[in-house]
Amino acid sequence: MYYRWIDASRYSMDCFLLFDRWALRWIFTDCDYYDGDYVSDMAKALYKYPYIDAFCRRKAPECSTFLDQVCRIPNKAWMDDEMRKAETKILQTHETFVVYAYPEVMEQVNYIRNWDAKYLHELVDLQDKIVLDVGAGTGRLAFAAATKAKRVYASEPCDQLREYMRDKIKRESIKNVKVLDGEVLSLPYENDTFDVVLSGHVVGDAYQEEIVEMERITKPDGWLVICNGDDEFRRTSPDKELTARGFEWFCHESIEGGIIYNYRKQVKK
Ligand SMILES: C[S@@+](CC[C@H](N)C(=O)[O-])C[C@H]1O[C@@H](n2cnc3c(N)ncnc32)[C@H](O)[C@@H]1O
Repeated sequence: MYYRWIDASRYSMDCFLLFDRWALRWIFTDCDYYDGDYVSDMAKALYKYPYIDAFCRRKAPECSTFLDQVCRIPNKAWMDDEMRKAETKILQTHETFVVYAYPEVMEQVNYIRNWDAKYLHELVDLQDKIVLDVGAGTGRLAFAAATKAKRVYASEPCDQLREYMRDKIKRESIKNVKVLDGEVLSLPYENDTFDVVLSGHVVGDAYQEEIVEMERITKPDGWLVICNGDDEFRRTSPDKELTARGFEWFCHESIEGGIIYNYRKQVKK
């Protein structure tokens, strides 16, 4: 499924040079939603960019097996427009990573652009709390939380996004947000560290393990909060995986007509 967050025809394979190792690993070894043309599209897309192939192998050696497979596809005297079409298709497939590479573009994606911080503050009392935002992105939740919380840790595995948040902190002299690396399945914190653990659009690849890990670092009686952005998708029911794990849900209509569900759960230990 494409979100259509970007028009991929306006980008080139050069954005791969901005991708982190974990993103390259996902693209070349983990991603399981490729269609039948994916390998040949990648061959056509990379043909004009041998330095991207070299970069990916150097940055993420585990991708070499897939890239070797791509290289074995014989050059069939591809036309320029055929290669460009394949390049656009690859970039549209991986539009989320393209967006993470350009945080100023990510800020303009509708779910962030249209969002109102009141939805976070209605869900949980953050006054004087120690808060973690997991997969913070451009800091939609982290910076909103910081208007009330004592301290907010914005944990984000993408280097471009970490630097974007650090630039904002410096520019706006924000004193109570700290930006760190971190991956939802192995958060680098001791047990029972945070009053509130926030996330938005992060949980879902492995619900059980992700929630167990976030609960581990939440203090007894603290809160896990999933506060999504305001997109255009008209969801018809709350996420069963979350309600089955004890999350309460809240629902509103976004200004674009999307049906948005948010969730919270008090952590009992
Ligand atoms: C769709 S964005 C949402 C950003 C932000 N939470 C928001 O709602 O505005 C998903 C974010 O999760 C990060 N991410 C991706 N995989 C992750 C993982 N395994 N653990 C933690 N964060 C991850 C991405 O780098 C990206 O910043």
